[in-house]
Amino acid sequence: MATRILGTGSAMPERIVTNKDIEGFLDTSDEWIRERTGIGSRHIAITETTTSLAAEACRKALEDAGKKPEDVDLIIAATVSPDYTFPCLACQIQAEIGAENATAYDINAACAGFLFALNSATAYIECGMYKNALIVGAEVLSKIVDWNDRTSCILFGDGAGAAFIGEAEEGVVAMEQGANGSKGMVLFRHETPVQNPFCEGGQSAEHQGSSFLEMNGQEVFRFAVSQVPESIQKVLVKAGWEISDVDHFVLHQANARIIHTIAKRLGEPEEKFPMNIERYGNMSSACIPVLLDELNKSGQLKRGEKLVLSGFGAGLTYGATAIIW
Ligand code: UT7
Repeated sequence: MATRILGTGSAMPERIVTNKDIEGFLDTSDEWIRERTGIGSRHIAITETTTSLAAEACRKALEDAGKKPEDVDLIIAATVSPDYTFPCLACQIQAEIGAENATAYDINAACAGFLFALNSATAYIECGMYKNALIVGAEVLSKIVDWNDRTSCILFGDGAGAAFIGEAEEGVVAMEQGANGSKGMVLFRHETPVQNPFCEGGQSAEHQGSSFLEMNGQEVFRFAVSQVPESIQKVLVKAGWEISDVDHFVLHQANARIIHTIAKRLGEPEEKFPMNIERYGNMSSACIPVLLDELNKSGQLKRGEKLVLSGFGAGLTYGATAIIW
């Protein structure tokens, strides 16, 4: 018995923001952004919320799998930009789609979040605790990026992707994941400071601090191009596959140059590394499921093909999963 992806779905905010739109208020250019990142535009939430995007992606994944909300046993949502710290996004999704038989909780593994959700749900299914799960990566990063910081805000976009997974003859073959907390501060969102009436100075608004994301881009770049190939090599060994057996490498879409470098380091042709970063930018946990959904719905994935999914992100977290589609 294995765990297979049986349906996928995605949802994007309506508003598209091009690089040219950003040129209007920041010292940057379409040329710089395209050359350094491969990004041309991104979707940005105006009326949408993390919950509304996630719920829409989940409804579509269920429809694709031919399942009803009440069939769902488990919902795991991966996000760093939920609407509320609590209740968690997964519980909000449960209520929104009417999956009243599901248990639900969130995980935070940043851009590797969807992968970690897939791995966690697979472990539950394989040990027999649940028969199926809805896993979702959803972000409205536009509310946590500093729109005055040209080195980071140009990278990110909003969106959600989901997959319905369940018991099958074949599917997930091997999983590999890891973390390096000592490098955590190369990509972080400012802390919530300890502030209460018993602290010196009491409780005041000025102690709330910045809640924006901050990043050392070059450090993250170096981490990605060394760690992702290593994770992929490790998962291939666990799966017993040769690298040439893999039909598609579905990677986190952080920067087109990162993906080109990884392809080169693995010695694999770039055609095996599908990309949609040009249209969406980096949507953190939503990148992998949105790309999977596009590949699935456009008929680019054939049942029986071998896929390696791989993500990396804040934490630092990283991993790779080998699956038979
Ligand atoms: O999911 C994980 C999330 N994060 C990432 O994956 C980030 C990974 N890192 C990257 O993608 C790249 O490091 C960036 C795209 C963030 C930056 O690209 P880079 O090639 O590493 O540029 P840099 O930081 O070395 O900056 C080169 C120059 C600098 O100017 P000077 O000092 O050479 O005069 C920057 O000030 O480019 C400047 N610059 C910009 N210029 C125009 C930085 N951002 C911009 C900008 N527009 N948006």
